[in-house]
Amino acid sequence: MRLDGKVALITGAAKGVEGRLMGFGGAAARLFSREGAIVVIADIDEESGKLTAEQINNDGGEAVFFRLDVTSEVSWAAAMEATIARYSKLDVLVNNAGTVSRADVEGTTLEMWEEQMAVHSTATFLGTRAAIPEMRRTGGGSIINVSSIFGLVGSPSSTAYHAAKGASRIFTKAAAVQYAKEGIRVNSVHPGFVTTPMTAPFFSDPELINPRLATVPMGRLGLADEIAYGILFLASDEASFVTGAELVIDGGFTAQ
Ligand SMILES: NC(=O)c1ccc[n+]([C@@H]2O[C@H](COP(=O)([O-])OP(=O)(O)OC[C@H]3O[C@@H](n4cnc5c(N)ncnc54)[C@H](O)[C@@H]3O)[C@@H](O)[C@H]2O)c1
Repeated sequence: MRLDGKVALITGAAKGVEGRLMGFGGAAARLFSREGAIVVIADIDEESGKLTAEQINNDGGEAVFFRLDVTSEVSWAAAMEATIARYSKLDVLVNNAGTVSRADVEGTTLEMWEEQMAVHSTATFLGTRAAIPEMRRTGGGSIINVSSIFGLVGSPSSTAYHAAKGASRIFTKAAAVQYAKEGIRVNSVHPGFVTTPMTAPFFSDPELINPRLATVPMGRLGLADEIAYGILFLASDEASFVTGAELVIDGGFTAQ
C-alpha cells in the first residue's frame, strides 16, 4: 500500500481497460489503485475512461472518471473543483495526456506546432498551477509530468513533439524549485518506445519500428507497467527527497 489514502488525478488515464492495450495513464491508474490510492481518471475519451473507472471499482478500488480537456483552463477548473468536492484533497497529479505529431521542421504546420504545445506543454502548466493551491492547503503533494526521451534528445521527425516535451521537462524544474519549501515535489518521467493505444498505429508498422528497435540497447520495446512503476515511485513518500529530477525509463536509449 505505497499510496494508502492518497487522492491522485491522472490525465490521459482512460486507456486502462482490462483486456485492451493500455497506456501509461491507464496502467498507472490501476497500479495506483492496487497501492491504496483513490484515482481520478481525467480524459477526453469518455467511453474508455468510464469503463476503466468502473472496472477499478468492481475490483474493490475507488475511482471516478471526470471529463477533462487538459488544454482548457476552464476544464481544469471544473475537474479540480469536482475532485475537491468529492474527495476533499489532492495529493498526486500526473500530467500524462498526450498526442502524436510526426514531421520534420519544414513539414510542421503552425497548427501542428500549437496543438503539440497545447497538449504537452500548456496543459502541464495549467494542471500544475491548478493543483498547487490544493496541495499547499494540505501541506504538500507530488506532481509527475510525463515528458519523453524526445524531451531530452532529437530525432529525424516529431519536431513539435520534441519542443513541447522539452518545455515540459524544464517547466518541471522551475516548479520544483519554486514549491520545494512547501512540500510540493515536481518531477518528470522520460519514457522510451512503448506500444500503447497512442503509438500502436505507428509501432505496428515494421518500417517505423525496426529502425527504432535497433537503437535501443535492450533491443525491445518497453511495457506500460514499466513506466507506471516509475510514476508510482515518484508519487509515493519513498521519493520524499526527490524533486526536479528526470526519471528516464528507456531500455538504455539515451545512455548512448
Ligand atoms: N508510448 C510511447 O512510446 C511514449 C514514449 C514517451 C512518452 N510518451 C508520453 O506518455 C504519455 C502517455 O502516452 P501513451 O502512449 O501511454 O498514451 P495513451 O495511449 O494512453 O493515449 C493518450 C491519452 O491521452 C488522452 N488525451 C489526448 N488529448 C487529451 C486532452 N486534450 N485532454 C485529455 N486527455 C487527452 C487520450 O484520450 C488518451 O486516453 C503521453 O504524454 C506521451 O506523449 C509516450
